[in-house]
Amino acid sequence: MTRYEQLLDSLQVSPKTWLITGVAGFIGSNLLEVLLCLNQRVVGLDNFATGHQRNLDEVKSTVSTDQWANFSFIQGDVKVLEDCHKACDSVDYVLHQAALGSVPRSLNDPITTNSTNIDGFLNMLVAARDAKVKSFTYAASSSTYGDHPGLPKVEDIIGKPLSPYAVTKYVNELYADVFAKCYGFDTIGLRYFNVFGKRQDPEGAYAAVIPKWAASMIKNDDVFINGDGQTSRDFCFIENTIQANLLAATTTDSASRNQVYNVAVSGRTDLNMLFRSLREALAKNGINYDKTPVYRDFRAGDVRHSQADISKIKKHLQYEPRFDIIEGVEKAMPWYVRFFN
Ligand SMILES: NC(=O)c1ccc[n+]([C@@H]2O[C@H](COP(=O)([O-])OP(=O)(O)OC[C@H]3O[C@@H](n4cnc5c(N)ncnc54)[C@H](O)[C@@H]3O)[C@@H](O)[C@H]2O)c1
Repeated sequence: MTRYEQLLDSLQVSPKTWLITGVAGFIGSNLLEVLLCLNQRVVGLDNFATGHQRNLDEVKSTVSTDQWANFSFIQGDVKVLEDCHKACDSVDYVLHQAALGSVPRSLNDPITTNSTNIDGFLNMLVAARDAKVKSFTYAASSSTYGDHPGLPKVEDIIGKPLSPYAVTKYVNELYADVFAKCYGFDTIGLRYFNVFGKRQDPEGAYAAVIPKWAASMIKNDDVFINGDGQTSRDFCFIENTIQANLLAATTTDSASRNQVYNVAVSGRTDLNMLFRSLREALAKNGINYDKTPVYRDFRAGDVRHSQADISKIKKHLQYEPRFDIIEGVEKAMPWYVRFFN
């Protein structure tokens, strides 16, 4: 049995109380679904800035009535310290996901990204510290590697940020480190690498590449590739990300805390390959997309290649990604097909 399998068993036997900030978003609502299915008690905080009530409704429809009764939702804002205090009350584990994602959004509106991602993060750190929670796990980002060209990305070697978003995520790590030093408050940062899966928002100007392309293909619209298609990413299916969060939150090994970890598969998929994978997954759902992609300029603030070294998280947290990109895209695609039908 892996540590993750053991953990899933032990949580069922001895349920805990979890706070998920950003619970109405993509990653937050998937964490919610898994934790409720494990009969955990969950508090959720969200202000619906980019999340949706429909995500919560969908989770409600997939769990039992008893499991749903274990969920309490606070419509609130991480920028408001009082909301954070209220949310952290009597919580064991915090999974802090609330933030404004997207590099282009941060280029268009650095001030709002900064206040949500930095002020909101600091509020959550203070509230969680004051509530004496057992652990604080937060969504960091691969964007922290910035302009450092080295591959694969190893946690200790970072470059300079390439966008306001990347600055905010790096500042989160600095604050987390300082809270350990100054207040003895332990945290774990998870540097996500391009997470994807069901409920990732396919709509709006700041949609991520997989949902955006899935939407375009289903609607038979053009698919745009920024650059030459050889830009590559380490796409990580949501189930792997959930595993990392649960392992991080519950680790009792002090050497494994106050750390940041890459969360990925350590794969390298370029955009041309991604296009073909999506087209094949869609065909398995009975939709054939015959158009060729339209190439256009590279996008400002994007890094060229991104691939994680995941040996640190494997060693410290016994993380073992269960899904590669092809399996993940095949699992996610039916949700997008349903969403647009
Ligand atoms: N999806 C990825 O590939 C990826 C990669 C790296 C890091 N991350 C980080 O993971 C986290 C979750 O991302 P996601 O993809 O689920 O995005 P998402 O936009 O779907 O979810 C974010 C959630 O946070 C909520 N939120 C935003 N501002 C808030 C505020 N002030 N108060 C309360 N709630 C607020 C939103 O309404 C939304 O429900 C974010 O911190 C993001 O920066 C995501």
